[in-house]
Amino acid sequence: MESETLNKHRILVLGANGQLGREFARLAPSYEYCHFRFDGRDVTDIMDENSVSAAIHEFAPDYVINCAAYTAVDKAETDRDACFATNAKACQHISKAVKKADARLVHFSSDYVYHSYDGFPLTESSPTRPQGVYAQSKLEGEKLIRESGVQALILRTSWVVSSFGHNFVKTMLRLGREKEQLNVVSDQFGTPTYTLHLASAVMDILIQTETNPDKMPLFNDTYNYSPEGIISWYDLAKEIMNLEGLDCKVLPIPTTAYPTPAVRPHWSVMSKRKIRAAFDLETSHWHAALRECLEDLDKSGL
Ligand SMILES: NC(=O)c1ccc[n+]([C@@H]2O[C@H](COP(=O)([O-])OP(=O)(O)OC[C@H]3O[C@@H](n4cnc5c(N)ncnc54)[C@H](OP(=O)(O)O)[C@@H]3O)[C@@H](O)[C@H]2O)c1
Repeated sequence: MESETLNKHRILVLGANGQLGREFARLAPSYEYCHFRFDGRDVTDIMDENSVSAAIHEFAPDYVINCAAYTAVDKAETDRDACFATNAKACQHISKAVKKADARLVHFSSDYVYHSYDGFPLTESSPTRPQGVYAQSKLEGEKLIRESGVQALILRTSWVVSSFGHNFVKTMLRLGREKEQLNVVSDQFGTPTYTLHLASAVMDILIQTETNPDKMPLFNDTYNYSPEGIISWYDLAKEIMNLEGLDCKVLPIPTTAYPTPAVRPHWSVMSKRKIRAAFDLETSHWHAALRECLEDLDKSGL
């Protein structure tokens, strides 16, 4: 079934050397009936309109999966132009080239676009009050994609963890081995998203929309995507130490005791009701996602 529906589909992954981009590359052999191309910044710089349109023209993809982003949240506070060029302006010309090629776009946004709290999980229609340059650039990128009229699946995800690249799990493992004690903020709540689950969910959505014409209109929309459950960074750090048998003591601190250039949302818990209603996806609990990510890191010897 899968091999028929996505047979010979051409998928161009941009930002191929990041956490998520590398996860798609790892998954690609399981979708051997698709034709993937993986472009890092060295091949296709998304800030360069000509570079993007050349890549899309040459490869003639059915889908472009944009994993490229400016993700240095704190650095962005003093590097606004580069952050907006990558996370916002680039979305405009990626969309233009994808639309011209009559292809579809998959793009990733962030829980940071919300920065609001009403006591419930954030839904896609919750107010967006992004604080900080990175958060504002991600919301602007979404807006430019929608305005372009391209067929685009926008997934707002949170707290991305992976065996690739830099993330909280890998930082905690390193610090947990080096230090006896660690302070971690306990008043920011969210859900860690494992790249393998996110990339697999995207592939499932592509297959479902290709298989079922009724689902195709659902592709062109914005959805939250993260696992189930709620956790604070502090409790997540404690659970990482626990699962890895590390002796490092984790102490809770308030955000005010760990000031950062970019303000972080206290509430990053997102409702997945909309994406679950639209597509048939396996959704895991954050604990299962964490365990899988740690097993993956163990296997890689990291
Ligand atoms: N990480 C998180 O916790 C998190 C949370 C919510 C949402 N997201 C979103 O999820 C998506 C994937 O994030 P991630 O964690 O995989 O990010 P990541 O590991 O930082 O990877 C981003 C990739 O984009 C590349 N890139 C940056 N500027 C580029 C350009 N001009 N042209 C081409 N490539 C460029 C980077 O290349 P260089 O290495 O050369 O800079 C890097 O390989 C992003 O849209 C991000 O905003 C992430």
